[in-house]
Amino acid sequence: MTILGIETSCDETAAALVRRHADGSGEILANIVLSQIKDHAPYGGVVPEIAARAHASHLDRLIGRALAEAGLKLDEVDGIAATAGPGLIGGLLVGLTTAKALALAKDKPLAAINHLEAHALTPRLLGRLDFPYLLLLISGGHTQVQIVEGVGRYRRIGTTIDDALGEAFDKTAKLLGLPYPGGPQVEILARQGNPRRFDFPRPLKGREGCHFSFSGLKTAIRETVEDLRPLSSADIADICAGFEAAVADTMRDRLGRALRLFKNEFPDVRQPVLVVAGGVAANQTLRRTFESVAARSGFALLVPPAHLCTDNAAMVAWAGAERLALGLADPLDAPARARWPLDPDAKRLTGAGVKA
Ligand code: KG4
Ligand code: ZN
Repeated sequence: MTILGIETSCDETAAALVRRHADGSGEILANIVLSQIKDHAPYGGVVPEIAARAHASHLDRLIGRALAEAGLKLDEVDGIAATAGPGLIGGLLVGLTTAKALALAKDKPLAAINHLEAHALTPRLLGRLDFPYLLLLISGGHTQVQIVEGVGRYRRIGTTIDDALGEAFDKTAKLLGLPYPGGPQVEILARQGNPRRFDFPRPLKGREGCHFSFSGLKTAIRETVEDLRPLSSADIADICAGFEAAVADTMRDRLGRALRLFKNEFPDVRQPVLVVAGGVAANQTLRRTFESVAARSGFALLVPPAHLCTDNAAMVAWAGAERLALGLADPLDAPARARWPLDPDAKRLTGAGVKA
């Protein structure tokens, strides 16, 4: 089964072709991502209207290029998958409407994909991985721990009660005058800094449950920046290092709890697996933290390569393949959804900026 995937939920316009073989294994035939980072950089973050317009002007050509790269015609595709949510509604409408038009014109089944499900199922595109497994999703918009029990079956055991982790990296970078997106910049500068000079808070550390919070950390950094101004390059490096150390320490605690919870629920899983996905998974310091937490609890750590951890359309096509293989096609009036929690039963946490 060969699926065309389309991703337009945030600031990447992407198209991909992925094949799912009869034995359940996957193969990427083409995977093209056009980043809009340059369009948004002057504003220090993603501007929804600019994103939607850029998707609309590039998507059709990108689909054409992906088909050409895979050596396929649209008629040879078995289904069309597009991200239908969660995300910025303008961009979602561009991608989903394009997918519907192609599905209607070519009489192909449509898969309206939850972007978070696409991240969650990515490791199954890369190799054999049985359900259940644990997913830590850390990106600019999301910070969640989900138990992945099957296609369409998720249980959220942790989420952020305020900012997403990538957002915390980006806001820290902005406070320090570093360009957007800030995560990679903070990581590079942190390597030269002293992680012990500042003792930033470890939000929720030691508390019950597996939720996350990062806004207190951001406030502490803002106060430090205001106290020190003007900042020297050593100050900036030390703040970056202190911030990363606080994040690593918090993650060690919160994630450790999630791993224990999974083990209690699934004592029969012989080799439990922790999957980490999302743009922040590219951070090497945090990756070492995840490795040690996983190893200590007897988990194998699986981090897809960076280009499949960040937003892309291969993951959307693959989620479409998994769903269509189970007969889960969507009607042509499937809605785009700005909010779309993976686990509809999870309690919606109240508070400013709560992420689904
Ligand atoms: O998954 P992603 O590409 O897009 C979505 O948000 O969906 O994630 C982007 C986020 C940004 O907040 C960016 O600053 C962060 O991932 N990021 C990093 C690193 N690379 C990207 N954060 C920390 N360290 C990095 N090396
Ligand atoms: Zn994403």
